[in-house]
Amino acid sequence: MISGKEVYPLIEGGKGINSSDGRSSGAWAHENCVGTFSGVSPDFYDEKGNVIREIFSQKTREERHAEMIERAIKGGVAQAQVAHEVSGGNGRIHMNMLWEMADSQKVIEGVLEKAKGLINGITCGAGMPFQLGELASKFGVYYYPIVSSARAFNILWKRAYNRFTEFLGGVVYEDPWLAGGHNGLSNAENPEQPETPYNRLVELRRLMNSYGLDSIPIILAGGIWSLNEWKDYIDNPDIGKIAFQFGTRPMITKESPVSEAWQKVMMQVKKGEVILQRFSPTGFFSSAIKNTFLEKLINRKNGEIPFKKEADTEFSEPLKVNSHKTVFIKPEDKEKAMNQINAGLTEIKETPDETVVFMTPEDWETMKEDRKNCVGCLSQCQFSTWNSYSESKTTGKLPDPRTYCIHKTLSEVGHGGSVKDHLLFAGHQVYRFATDPLYRNGFVPSVKELIEKIKNGE
Ligand SMILES: Cc1cc2nc3c(=O)[nH]c(=O)nc-3n(C[C@H](O)[C@H](O)[C@H](O)COP(=O)(O)O)c2cc1C
Ligand code: SF4
Repeated sequence: MISGKEVYPLIEGGKGINSSDGRSSGAWAHENCVGTFSGVSPDFYDEKGNVIREIFSQKTREERHAEMIERAIKGGVAQAQVAHEVSGGNGRIHMNMLWEMADSQKVIEGVLEKAKGLINGITCGAGMPFQLGELASKFGVYYYPIVSSARAFNILWKRAYNRFTEFLGGVVYEDPWLAGGHNGLSNAENPEQPETPYNRLVELRRLMNSYGLDSIPIILAGGIWSLNEWKDYIDNPDIGKIAFQFGTRPMITKESPVSEAWQKVMMQVKKGEVILQRFSPTGFFSSAIKNTFLEKLINRKNGEIPFKKEADTEFSEPLKVNSHKTVFIKPEDKEKAMNQINAGLTEIKETPDETVVFMTPEDWETMKEDRKNCVGCLSQCQFSTWNSYSESKTTGKLPDPRTYCIHKTLSEVGHGGSVKDHLLFAGHQVYRFATDPLYRNGFVPSVKELIEKIKNGE
């Protein structure tokens, strides 16, 4: 039973900005499975069915932010309608929301109010969605927190969910070392030392059972390809009821909204080319394909040099960062600085951590433009310093040139933008497209065909 209906325990995970939408989630639901469309800046359409791209007309960031929320609600309703139509009334439709999106509660509330009866469940990750239980219960919709440890669920349960048990539909355990998108690694976990999910799932189940949640399924996400590899997890009393969520694999289907160029890249990725890194402006770890976009960030980070504003015995080498400012670096870092400047990375920018990074004038222009166009999509953003919680609407820190505008890059690549110059979130199993016989000669299955393979354990 998922969200009140008997369905196959197979779920398409939500993928923002629009890598899972009404078309893909509706197709999963049509096969009596569960489809999840993304509620983060979803597309909506004109009378002819063409996508209306987000263009923000307002001058201030606060006004653009309000515009974005209004559009997100419109888009969420539009995608729920598409999903419902495509599903033919089968399966279940869920909406995913990035909790760290600014005003995520407003969006969930707005969509649920206007799309009554079309959405059966809400999944929420990237942050601690304490208010999710109350919000979903108010609308009689099931809710699914996404966690990466029993500890995180324990905090959610104790602080909030124990009062909203009726509509707790399941707990998504997302493997923080393997899943695509943002990853919930905490300070206690080592990004270099992945742990197998088994013990972590058993711990989660034990905890859930101690709260009387024996009948609530755990939804395992991250690194799931074929179910043959997960036999030990099925009908296992230590794990209890389990369903499987696929994020990366559904991206190469006929109904997937991602572009052909993006699918082509995924078909060619080799093992090890998905990198777990921390460049997201949310501050979370995330997993994405190593392309030009990511390489630039990696090189910028590798070229980072600590500085001091005043010279001392250790930081004695002057470095002119612009026409009216000089900082001081260690003499041993001078060569590293000169190499970058000589390579054309002549724009030298301070980070909030008393370091400088180097970039080309073109990249600096783009960065300035992206900051100028900020729509305040996140509750707090390291790239632009937008802070939706504070009265001043800023974090008060320096904007961090080691990060990027996630709203822009995901929106661009989600609408046919360059797959080299934008972020390509992907799970660490994406290399299997190249070796799985289903995709031989570039074959793209329909959702129905993929689900048949998955049901066979393939
Ligand atoms: C392109 C992409 C975008 C994603 N976006 C989101 C998102 O916006 N919110 C979310 O909760 N999870 C997101 N995810 C995670 C998926 O829903 C899913 O849990 C995860 O991909 C499962 O791991 P897998 O990629 O190994 O299958 C995203 C994953 C990918 C690959
Ligand atoms: S700069 Fe940050 S807050 Fe602003 S739109 Fe981009 S990612 Fe969102």
